[in-house]
Amino acid sequence: MAEHASEPSRPPSQGTADRIYLDYNATTPLEPAVIRAVSEALREAWGNPSSSYIAGANAKALISKAREDVATMVGGRAEDIIFTSGGTEANNLVFHSVLEEFKRSSTAEKLLNGGPGLPHIIISNVEHDSVQLVAENLQKTGQAEVTCVAVSTVTGRVEAEDLLAVVRPNTCLVSVMLANNETGVVMPIRELCQRVKAINKQGRHPRILLHTDAAQALGKIQVDVADLGVDYLTIVGHKFYAPRIGALYVRGPGGRTPLYPMFYGGGQERNFRPGTENTPMIAGLGKAAELVTANLHDYENHMRTTRLYLEQRLKEVFGEEKVRFNSHFPGSDSLPNTCNVSLLGPHLRGRKVLSCCKTLLASVGAACHSDLGDRPSHILLSCGVSPEVAANALRLSVGRSTSRADVDAVVEDLRNTVRLLEG
Ligand SMILES: Cc1ncc(COP(=O)(O)O)c(C=O)c1O
Repeated sequence: MAEHASEPSRPPSQGTADRIYLDYNATTPLEPAVIRAVSEALREAWGNPSSSYIAGANAKALISKAREDVATMVGGRAEDIIFTSGGTEANNLVFHSVLEEFKRSSTAEKLLNGGPGLPHIIISNVEHDSVQLVAENLQKTGQAEVTCVAVSTVTGRVEAEDLLAVVRPNTCLVSVMLANNETGVVMPIRELCQRVKAINKQGRHPRILLHTDAAQALGKIQVDVADLGVDYLTIVGHKFYAPRIGALYVRGPGGRTPLYPMFYGGGQERNFRPGTENTPMIAGLGKAAELVTANLHDYENHMRTTRLYLEQRLKEVFGEEKVRFNSHFPGSDSLPNTCNVSLLGPHLRGRKVLSCCKTLLASVGAACHSDLGDRPSHILLSCGVSPEVAANALRLSVGRSTSRADVDAVVEDLRNTVRLLEG
């Protein structure tokens, strides 16, 4: 169709023509193919997926295909995918389910021999708010004990020994993100799962369930639930060129792995997440997942090459002495697209620099912390970055279509801004 033929081959621009967007960890634009899938679903699959006539059947078929595609992207089975409104809901659903399971099993146990008391949950100290604040709230309201295990200030990762040291007899959940949104550090989830499973094998009760929030990893690095060994994995569409919708991978939902609904209603998503399905957004998520499965290698290579070029240009233009990378941790893997950098100097606070830039659109940290004023990111502080350096941090995250020319323009913009601010 004509409207399709005229669409650009790269995602639509991110801002005005003279602006360059380097905030792909905050959100991504939709791929043209995803926009087409969403539009087509809006037009052709508007029926209620639960209706038995053709309009409903079309919508249902589309949802089934999307479920397959999302499952394939993470190496799981279609029946293990539950669509949600986004990552925040998926993360909440995990905590809700684990607590509910604990309550039910400990009630039974209490009747027999006193029971294990409150559930204990372990998270890291660099989790997204949709994990950290959920855990904090459970602790505050006396529903759970929570331990925040600190990431190593050398590697930026949760180290297995540190995690195992805080496991208690009542531990029932470990939730550690797959990759950090500010530093890009990839956590050793596979190793953490193996070590925790070895504890589970001792026949302890409760079993420790394993969750990873893969919001920042999907579409950037290979993610395979079987290889990782997780029970739950959070999927967030708007980080990999899909719309604002998400999903939760659950290994055998309601059977092998506990899953309890937060809402009650019409029985959709096998009663785990009722509510008439958001067919067009699900179709968009499926299409974006299909693109990731087909092209991950190219996306990853392009982003890595571009980010390395960005880092090289920053060093060339400002000199190694003035540039400090907050995303480089010896021995740790990191996302291909994330450059967290501080330009050193008393006048170069991250927010100030960004507000004076004429071309660059970026952030100083997680989008959900943008109201924290000039306070340095607690994530960077937790990773051992000094307060002075953290205060100057810029999170520059490149995307699938960021070019070398974009990088050149951004670095030139930063050079002019630094000249201006340093007088
Ligand atoms: C690591 C991480 N987890 C969860 C979320 C929340 O996802 P959503 O915005 O879909 O609720 C985000 C996005 O901001 C994120 O970066």
